[in-house]
Amino acid sequence: MYRTHTCGALSIQDTGKTVTLAGWVQTIRKFGAITFIDLRDRYGITQLLFGEELNRQLEEHPLGREFVLQAKGVVVERSNKNPNLSTGEIEINILSFTVLNQSATPPFTIQDDTDGGDDLRMRYRYLDLRRNAVKRNLELRYAVSRSARNYLHENSFMDIETPFLIKSTPEGARDFVVPSRMNTGQFYALPQSPQTFKQLLMVSGYDRYYQVVKCFRDEDLRADRQPEFTQIDCEMSFVDQEDILNMFEGLIKRIFKDIKGIDYTEPVERMTWEDAMWDYGNDKPDIRFGMQVANLKVPPHVYLSRQQTIPKTPVGEGGFKVFDEAETLVAISVPGCSEYSRKQTDELTEWVKRPQIGMKGLAFIKCNADGSFKSSIDKFYTGEQLKLIATAVKANAGDLVLILAGPEERTRKAISELRLEMGKRLGFRKDNEFKLLWVLDFPLFEYAADDNRWVARHHPFTSPRPSDIDTMIAHSPAIEDAAKYLEHPYANIKANAYDMVLNGNEIGGGSIRIFQRGLQEKMFAALGMSREESLHKFGFLLGAFEYGAPPHGGIAFGFDRLCAILGGSESIRDFIAFPKNNSGRDMMLDAPSTIDEKQLEELAIQLKTIDQTSL
Ligand code: AMO
Repeated sequence: MYRTHTCGALSIQDTGKTVTLAGWVQTIRKFGAITFIDLRDRYGITQLLFGEELNRQLEEHPLGREFVLQAKGVVVERSNKNPNLSTGEIEINILSFTVLNQSATPPFTIQDDTDGGDDLRMRYRYLDLRRNAVKRNLELRYAVSRSARNYLHENSFMDIETPFLIKSTPEGARDFVVPSRMNTGQFYALPQSPQTFKQLLMVSGYDRYYQVVKCFRDEDLRADRQPEFTQIDCEMSFVDQEDILNMFEGLIKRIFKDIKGIDYTEPVERMTWEDAMWDYGNDKPDIRFGMQVANLKVPPHVYLSRQQTIPKTPVGEGGFKVFDEAETLVAISVPGCSEYSRKQTDELTEWVKRPQIGMKGLAFIKCNADGSFKSSIDKFYTGEQLKLIATAVKANAGDLVLILAGPEERTRKAISELRLEMGKRLGFRKDNEFKLLWVLDFPLFEYAADDNRWVARHHPFTSPRPSDIDTMIAHSPAIEDAAKYLEHPYANIKANAYDMVLNGNEIGGGSIRIFQRGLQEKMFAALGMSREESLHKFGFLLGAFEYGAPPHGGIAFGFDRLCAILGGSESIRDFIAFPKNNSGRDMMLDAPSTIDEKQLEELAIQLKTIDQTSL
């Protein structure tokens, strides 16, 4: 037996016991003729005391950091107690020890505040994983998975595995493909999600399915995206949208309770996609704080349900050319910032001009405490006019109104980013406050300018809202004038789709599905797929729909994202044992890599040299 206890198990109650521990040497501290060693394992740290005699042995066979040590000794009360450690009241008076293995000097310190940079830690991820901070993240991940599995099991969901080697049907992100040796010239694809399989399982009668499953997407990476990531993927039969929202609200509330001890008893707020875009400039608004967007000027074909609410103001009616010519004018009122200095407003202007935000400038109105206004657009508007604008933005005395003008999509995105940034700067986005939101009624289609066609905003299996089905069937998808795509009836068709948003992050998304072959075929046609192409790609699903497909719908949660938010981190990498870096590389394995000539030959693949500069 290597050990009688772990390094986190012993306490003052164990005083007098003879124990054997095994673990890694965290620190070595010599005091004259005695040595203290902190021994670490997954469960904690225990202090070992090497007396004079053993110390001589240590001098002959010096230990180093991360050596693997087995040590036998007696538990004694410590004179110098450490209240920060669960084992801090005791130490082990060592009788004998064995070095089980040596260790090279680690390239960074295995401590919470390590001196290792990101790349180095990723290269030696197996050492990084020894650090407490990373271990806590993996423990949280496991706890979230257990909590989700328990809830789903209690609600009769069945965990069913689906294949990883499937057929390439790119819609959305690019597929990762895998060449087939036995079928030369042919390729499998790795699933972007088990979407069609879970729908087939519904056809097969497994009316409540779930899987904690890897998904693979060849897309540009960000802090909240990895090329392979994990979903809690779920599907249900004989349900409407309301059933799904209730069931999965329950799942997230259960996770909050189990992981954070939070009783999230209030119903999750709901917002339509149009309202989210209108009021927050974003389809995943952070509703922990207000600072809603004021729409002062908007093109007539967007957000039809809110057009009537545009307040009457002097903007865009002669005065300031930039405002007059802009497609969209949006503003926020930042509370308590009317006394921003010139330097501060200049800095904000530079902030919106950064390429990521892409605005040409920023206009502001300072709503002074005495009721007067000071503005970057003083030249163009009278005090009375500025007051009208400030009122439309619902600004109070002491607020700073920030106004952006430009093309609709970019400007809306920019005001949303600016709102989030100001929310962060003012401390409105707290790690320990959690606010859930359902965003509903997403558009069914999105316009893909590159191909001048419609693509599915969620995926092609999402059902249109029943009231919009006729519009979809009645109109051809053809877009005659690309510049006026927003005027096409498809632009306003809504889907039976929903996203769950947590603190401004999309943590899950799903929809009620199409389950009739005829409607599914119409959907493929609307996306510009020929009959042959849709049969080639999705013949299996269309076929299955002929054999009694039940009404069904589902959702998938981004498991890594959910864990990161619960753990108070922006980066999902911290919650994945072996993540990839931002270029999609595994720094430890040094993957992707080239393969042998022989492997290529077996696969009948010939590599082409590509001029990288032409890419
Ligand atoms: P969707 O594509 O919205 O839906 O994905 C569901 C959730 O997965 C997370 N997510 C990601 N997390 C990390 N890295 C990525 N690259 C990444 N991409 C997505 C997000 C997202 O909300 N089959 C449908 C679900 C359904 O309709 O039931 C699907 O995959 O948190």
